[in-house]
Amino acid sequence: MTPENREFEIVVWGASGFTGRLTAEYLLAQYGVAKEIRWAIGGRNQGKLQTVREELVRETGVEASSIPIVVGDSGDEAFLSELATRTAVVCTTVGPYAKYGSRLVEACAKNGTSYCDLTGEVHWMQRMIEAHQDEARSSGARIVFNCGFDCIPSDLGAFFMQREMKLRHGIPCSRLQLRVKGFSGTASGGTIASMLSMLEEAGKDPQVGRAMKEPYSLNPKDVRTGPDAAEPLAPHYDSDFGQWTAPFIMAGINTKVVRRSNALLDYAYGKDFRYDEAMLMGPGPTGFAKAASTSIGSAAMMAAMSIGPLRRALSGRLPQPGDGPTLAQREAGYFDLLLRGTGRDGQILRGRVRGDRDPGYGSTSKMLAESAVCLAKDTLGVGGGIWTPASALGEALLARLPKAGVRFQIEEEGAASTAAASR
Ligand SMILES: NC(=O)c1ccc[n+]([C@@H]2O[C@H](COP(=O)([O-])OP(=O)(O)OC[C@H]3O[C@@H](n4cnc5c(N)ncnc54)[C@H](OP(=O)(O)O)[C@@H]3O)[C@@H](O)[C@H]2O)c1
Repeated sequence: MTPENREFEIVVWGASGFTGRLTAEYLLAQYGVAKEIRWAIGGRNQGKLQTVREELVRETGVEASSIPIVVGDSGDEAFLSELATRTAVVCTTVGPYAKYGSRLVEACAKNGTSYCDLTGEVHWMQRMIEAHQDEARSSGARIVFNCGFDCIPSDLGAFFMQREMKLRHGIPCSRLQLRVKGFSGTASGGTIASMLSMLEEAGKDPQVGRAMKEPYSLNPKDVRTGPDAAEPLAPHYDSDFGQWTAPFIMAGINTKVVRRSNALLDYAYGKDFRYDEAMLMGPGPTGFAKAASTSIGSAAMMAAMSIGPLRRALSGRLPQPGDGPTLAQREAGYFDLLLRGTGRDGQILRGRVRGDRDPGYGSTSKMLAESAVCLAKDTLGVGGGIWTPASALGEALLARLPKAGVRFQIEEEGAASTAAASR
């Protein structure tokens, strides 16, 4: 049966978890049940999923008792094959993905089933690309990792800036800087579990550490080089923004995905394209002090978490899987990102990406849901394969994201002096 004619268009897999539940809530509020989209919720525990369904009815006021429930385990290959043949798209929040996600990717790649998720686990993505790219290409499965805060604002932000620079000047941005102006949000137990699992694997296998460090580790194997170096760990004065900067915790994944998009888009951003991300900390001595303390704090935290016994001791005190920010925290959250693109002749374009709700959950669940709808409903210019959000969903997702509270805009155009342009 072709994917369009399957029983479901989307299954939200992991709907009893913190982010999966929010994803289902958004789909219900935006699209209803069995109207525009035939969708279902799934997971390993029927009782929990029934409770989620009852809560969704209470919270959204939308009649949801007819949402179908699919029950099975991520370790059960026969079940996953069946799941993959019942739906056109699997939208999964069952993580850590390196622990629970590999068999699902395999089942989707085999059965021509499209797939989107929230992974930020670089070493696992690298493994999945190597293992399933060819099968996904021949089956027609469009597999898209990173459909949350990492990496949609960065990846689609870069795609948007390139489009706007080309429209105005006929050339791409040969350099793009993303700066985090502000955000408010907290981490869930599921995300902490994923970070801990990644550090644990890095302790056992040096290849995992290399995948996390190398700037082009997600590019196709034969093109893993380019002008960018690994993300800096020290504070830095950014004269283009007139502020001190500190490392941005998500840069390690976001930058690699943006570079992979460039490679998959046949180097539409140019072979000399440079991309980096950092957090703005303010000008003057106060800015420097904040940049220095943030840089030292994140380096110390990563070092402590890399030591097995310390990691195990700390992990018991952190939020556990299933925990996450409250409704009030999610609603008070936001993110605000600035982008500065430079063309080869010194053209400057300043853009901005803003999102309502906390980035990791309130906003992430909406971005993930719209990515799934995009895979199920939109005409995309790509066939099967393991893609990035920008290379697979590009214009179609840009058009959908404002509905999810994520806005991309150009703020200013100009020209830099030759010296500034070459910086
Ligand atoms: N990229 C981003 O911006 C972003 C943001 C948020 C989250 N995330 C990632 O998304 C993932 C989920 O986070 P979360 O906070 O929602 O986690 P969570 O609350 O722990 O939810 C995990 C879900 O996986 C299910 N599950 C676990 N083992 C399973 C198995 N063997 N078979 C079937 N289902 C199983 C759980 O089912 P039970 O309820 O039955 O235990 C639950 O539904 C994590 O990997 C996290 O890192 C990424």
